[in-house]
Amino acid sequence: MAFLWLLSCFAFIGATYGCGLPAITPVVTGYARIVNGEEAVAGSWPWQVSLQTDSGWHFCGGSLINENWVVTAAHCGVSTADFVVVGAHDKSLTSELSQKSMTIVKVITHPKWNTYTINYDVSVVKLASPARFNTQVSSVCLAAASDDYPAGMKCVTTGWGRTRASPAERPDKLQQAALPLLSNTDCKQYWGNKISDIMICAGAAGASSCMGDSGGPLVCQKNNAWNLVGIVSWGSGSCSTRRPGVYARVTELRGWIDETIAAN
Ligand code: ARG
Repeated sequence: MAFLWLLSCFAFIGATYGCGLPAITPVVTGYARIVNGEEAVAGSWPWQVSLQTDSGWHFCGGSLINENWVVTAAHCGVSTADFVVVGAHDKSLTSELSQKSMTIVKVITHPKWNTYTINYDVSVVKLASPARFNTQVSSVCLAAASDDYPAGMKCVTTGWGRTRASPAERPDKLQQAALPLLSNTDCKQYWGNKISDIMICAGAAGASSCMGDSGGPLVCQKNNAWNLVGIVSWGSGSCSTRRPGVYARVTELRGWIDETIAAN
């Protein structure tokens, strides 16, 4: 028994970093900023990336879905002149960041992306060379098209977005917040017909994603593994913690993501 455990342990270290299984366990209180979140355990959200301009300005988040591809929001407007920073925690540590900064060869945006309705707010970004996975860099699982993530389920969103909308407060260290999912019917009570089937809402329970979190993950645990269920998309301009944030619904986008990365 102990031998088998050891064996599987070595197999894990030697071979692969399975999707959605951080080597460094996240600790979420109340589950366990983001507004009203908390600092994450460094390296515990190993798929989280920071999208930065060539001058090192963090403008959006994203999630590694394998060694070559990052999923982010279309409205982030990523270009091949931008950089993907992997394995970061404190983005003020520039020396460290330069080693983790990866160049982009391709950005593909969903063909149905609509700037007015904010529907299909998803792009996939291909790295110029594969990210090397380690204890602080690995992928998230993608929610399957047939998965059900019920209203009330506690999920987690992470990012370097503002901890206060205005005057802006930008954290150096990765923040996290646990948030409940809402049904789209409930979410429409806040946002009316702006809420489409391609969106999923989370929050209105004391914490909120905010500007700069966009493109980053909303993850929910299923059979132990973390699955990407939402992509930070839009919400209250003041990042009110009493209003739900709106995320692109990955179950509806999974087919396109799979086809696109397979063909590119
Ligand atoms: N669209 C924003 C961004 O570009 C993120 C919105 C997140 N949520 C909110 N309540 N404003 O970073």
